[in-house]
Amino acid sequence: MAFATIELEKKGRVGLIRLNRPQALNALCDELVRELGTALNELEADSAIGAIVLTGSEKAFAAGADIKEMKDRGFVDVLVADFITNGWERISTVRKPIIAAVAGFALGGGCEIAMMCDFIIAAENAKFGQPEITLGIIPGAGGTQRLTRAVGKAKAMDLVLTGRMMDAAEAERSGLVARVVAAEKLLDEALAAAEKIAGFSLPIVLMAKESVNRAFESSLAEGIKFERRLFHAAFGTEDQKEGMAAFVEKRKPVFKHR
Ligand code: HXC
Repeated sequence: MAFATIELEKKGRVGLIRLNRPQALNALCDELVRELGTALNELEADSAIGAIVLTGSEKAFAAGADIKEMKDRGFVDVLVADFITNGWERISTVRKPIIAAVAGFALGGGCEIAMMCDFIIAAENAKFGQPEITLGIIPGAGGTQRLTRAVGKAKAMDLVLTGRMMDAAEAERSGLVARVVAAEKLLDEALAAAEKIAGFSLPIVLMAKESVNRAFESSLAEGIKFERRLFHAAFGTEDQKEGMAAFVEKRKPVFKHR
């Protein structure tokens, strides 16, 4: 499928989506968000794909929603179109694991879509921020919520209220980012992590992702109960038998449901 604002590639069992509007630092225009949704639908439906990597360019993951496209919109326009909810939140409903590989700017909506992914691997030159306040708006794709859960109130308030950027080291220290790597290693590192995940049992991977996500939606007691149910269910799969048999037989497991 040909896209105008993104590129979609399948590398073995990994789907790689690259945001590709270099002239606008990958600003997230409506067309890009639509195409991103189409690509994600395709990867979700493809049983040969077990994990997804979302990346941008060396200079920018994404510099935010497209300001030129947004600037003349009024309240009624954004309300009726349900701007943001419509399309943007697709990433947060992807069931297969999705890793954000971030180099350069991840600002505003760019930071927000990175945070919708399951985890972020950042290049040393990555810069994260929610600069919406400088434009007379507030974050609208979950920035005030996901950033606060990731880094805590103090740093979230600092970033959202001042609009400043934080570099990769600060982002890793504060828990926004899982790993920081040299820029030239970013894609290899993210693809290797995705490939590793895609080699495990898909139903078990889905359970693990769903269970971690439940931590953000429930009390500890409810979350533990949810985890326990899925943990028990894992014992009903052929892949649990295979994984444990392989360990005991000192061989590599060959999971059936990949
Ligand atoms: C539209 C953008 C853009 C954006 C950059 N460009 N960001 N166009 N929307 N968000 C365009 C510039 O206009 C310019 O095009 C080209 O990309 C290169 O950008 P420069 O500014 O010349 O590059 P540089 O000097 O390196 O500065 C990089 C930057 C800066 C610091 C990232 O571009 C910047 O501050 N961008 C805006 C960041 C931002 O405020 N993001 C939040 C958006 S609001 P031309 O044609 O002029 O040369 C948002 C709301 C989310 O995301 C709400 C829910 C989705």
